[in-house]
Amino acid sequence: MDSCDIVVIGGGAAGLMCAATAGQRGRRVRVLEHANRVGKKILMSGGGRCNFTNLGTTPANFISANPHYCKSALARYTPADFVALVERHGIAYHEKERGQLFCDVSSKQIVALLVDECRAAGVRIDTGCTIENLERDGDGFRLTTSLGAMTARSLVVASGGLSIPSMGASSFGHTLAKRFGHTVLPTRAGLVPLTLSGRHQDELAGLSGIALPVSARCNGVRFDADMLITHRGVSGPAILQISSYWQPGDDLRLDLLPDRDALAFLEELRVAHPAAELRNLLAEALPRRLAQRLCETRFANKPMRQYTPRELKAIAAGLHDFALVASGTEGYRTAEVTLGGVDTNTLSSSTMASRHVPNLYFIGEVVDVTGHLGGYNFQWAWASGHAAGLAA
Ligand code: FDA
Repeated sequence: MDSCDIVVIGGGAAGLMCAATAGQRGRRVRVLEHANRVGKKILMSGGGRCNFTNLGTTPANFISANPHYCKSALARYTPADFVALVERHGIAYHEKERGQLFCDVSSKQIVALLVDECRAAGVRIDTGCTIENLERDGDGFRLTTSLGAMTARSLVVASGGLSIPSMGASSFGHTLAKRFGHTVLPTRAGLVPLTLSGRHQDELAGLSGIALPVSARCNGVRFDADMLITHRGVSGPAILQISSYWQPGDDLRLDLLPDRDALAFLEELRVAHPAAELRNLLAEALPRRLAQRLCETRFANKPMRQYTPRELKAIAAGLHDFALVASGTEGYRTAEVTLGGVDTNTLSSSTMASRHVPNLYFIGEVVDVTGHLGGYNFQWAWASGHAAGLAA
């Protein structure tokens, strides 16, 4: 029977980082990946260019029942550490906006970097490997897999979240965590487009493809970014970000003119163009077709001189405080991340080790730590993988 020091389940971002780190410490490490290749989510990330970190990463960029949990790992493996690795591998990159770093050429380079690091550290990577059984074996673990039986002193669970099942996502890590006595906090799709139905969908029907800057607010949190109207509802960075804070029934508000005082703007228009209709003038500040639609559905359209100050005030309020009634999300099929997961109260924040079972570790997205959009989720994968790789 094969035996090694560490088996890492999942050859994604966190698993490969952990394996390389542990391998560099002289540990005999084996990565078991059930998909036919490693790093599939990395490949599809950032539109094929992988937004591999964010220079502005702070614990405030993460959602978790315990907001302090991520601090230690993030402090010990920083964006600068990963950037140094990227530079060592000669990968060209650029900052797109707000600290988001992307590869100039391809996400494939990040997967190659991780695989090269693993190879140099003597890590064995097995793809297409199904885990059939997993049991405690003294202080270690015994696994039965489609590639044979093996034992390991330590087991690192890096099997990711539930989003994009077609890319290999599975509930393996959550099931295993529960089996070994860990609480798993309820999971749901995050960084996901929102769907609309009924009259709310009708209001935006035919406008798909229109994008505009908005400020999206929900449950005391606010994101300023673009929104995109889709066939089924709304998407774009502002909506993906706020989706992680929204649940059905929650009040979601949009400021459609985040950079303008709408009332001052409307009053100026009334003075400058008293005979012109609102629907035509509003198009100076909003995409034309959206402006026209709003003047059919929310605001009475007429020449500017006919509006009373009270009516203008109501229109301004409608633009700054647009109630978006979403019916749901597109779910795990398109979500970038999974909220919830293995309860951090059952893990050590410095090593990612289980508090219940010696030599068992949970890293990456399977844990209840979820980043905002913008490279934070990979930074968590690198940092948590590195922490466990140093400890296991
Ligand atoms: P990850 O999902 O990377 O890896 C888990 C691995 O475990 C997978 O390879 C899976 O096949 C394997 N596995 C699952 N069950 C198994 C089992 N039973 N046995 C063996 N193996 C198993 N983040 C970011 O920071 N910047 C970005 O640009 C993007 N872009 C992006 C785009 C899209 C379309 C998605 C879906 C997601 C992103 N993300 C992102 C999020 C990011 O991809 C994600 O948070 C990390 O990949 C999480 O890393 P993990 O290693 O935890 O899971």
